[in-house]
Amino acid sequence: MKTQLLYEDDLEQAAEHLRGGGLVGIPTETVYGLGADGLNPLAVSRIFQAKGRPQDNPLILHIPDASWLERYCQDIPETARRLAEKFWPGPLTMILTCKKRTPEELETLKNGPICSFTHFGPRVIPDVVTAGLDTVGMRCPAHPLTRAIIQQAGVPIAAPSGNTSGKPSPTTAQHMLADMDGKIEAIVDGGPCAVGVESTIVDLTGTPPRLLRPGGVTLEQLQEVLGEVEVDPAVTRRMGEGERPRAPGMKYRHYAPKAPVVVVAGEPEASAAYIQAHVSHTPWDGVICFDEYAARFPGRPLERLGPAADKEAQARRVFDALRAMDRTPVKRIWAQCPDPAGIGLAVVNRLNKAAGFHVIEV
Ligand code: TXA
Ligand code: MG
Repeated sequence: MKTQLLYEDDLEQAAEHLRGGGLVGIPTETVYGLGADGLNPLAVSRIFQAKGRPQDNPLILHIPDASWLERYCQDIPETARRLAEKFWPGPLTMILTCKKRTPEELETLKNGPICSFTHFGPRVIPDVVTAGLDTVGMRCPAHPLTRAIIQQAGVPIAAPSGNTSGKPSPTTAQHMLADMDGKIEAIVDGGPCAVGVESTIVDLTGTPPRLLRPGGVTLEQLQEVLGEVEVDPAVTRRMGEGERPRAPGMKYRHYAPKAPVVVVAGEPEASAAYIQAHVSHTPWDGVICFDEYAARFPGRPLERLGPAADKEAQARRVFDALRAMDRTPVKRIWAQCPDPAGIGLAVVNRLNKAAGFHVIEV
């Protein structure tokens, strides 16, 4: 299969692929997603094949506005409406209770094939989306092209990040093409992603609400609306044997370039000095550092993370920097890391996960 690159003028074609059970790379404000008709179990199972994604890792659904929540969720708490009002469309995914599906509905879906063109089969979320959980992640993305595609397709779009499982998430159409060429029908090029890390995930099915993954909507912003917010332990530390994070995807080594990563956390001046003192003199050690310190590491593969004080820039850069290291021969990567306030928590989390939580505090 040849993967088509589509642009602004080809959105009807993208929607047609989706309605016909195809896979389409979609730009969002966070990262590129690998989209399929979220009500078509055959299309959704192709996502898992294309990514090499474990079947027990559920997908989130992308909808055009909060009014679609009622179609697929039940017992929606007031907090969900407040968050939607404040942050949608935008980089926030809410975990809610999935609308009860009858055994007959689920059985009919299993017997597929369904094709959304003909609206054949029940209009409920198949088990393959939720990985059998009774909850579902709902997100309303902000990118205008993807919003138009969802509207035209007329179905919720199931979309994980568009990378091969375990690789850094794609923040450009070219990243996604590198992972998915020949495996999916098309990728819509909507330019580089504005946020650069995946959406914030908050679980609203328990009290207090729980942050499962930090992202563009910060913990502090969630607290302003929700009051107390628990932070899932998987956000800040490696899960032990037998421990199960609430977001199944958080248990996998993630975002990882081929070479092992060592994260050095602390004041920028101190972390730069530490890396300078420990980096080997060979070009086999790569460095990811804040712009101000780049000149200290001549003669080796180096990626700039953005200015030390600009965490938004760091969020936009982090996955590209990790991916770029795979195009070099480095055997080890040293990475400077911001403090965890604001969107810093998302940058820290992605770097720490890339490093398998190999973090040195200086
Ligand atoms: O920004 C984003 O969220 C991107 C763009 C494409 O929208 N999507 C994305 O999807 O990052 P994915 O599949 O790569 O990450 C979704 C995470 C996974 O860790 C998954 O385990 C978790 O959400 N998740 C999905 N459904 C869940 C549920 N019902 N309960 C808990 N965690 C869930
Ligand atoms: Mg992902």
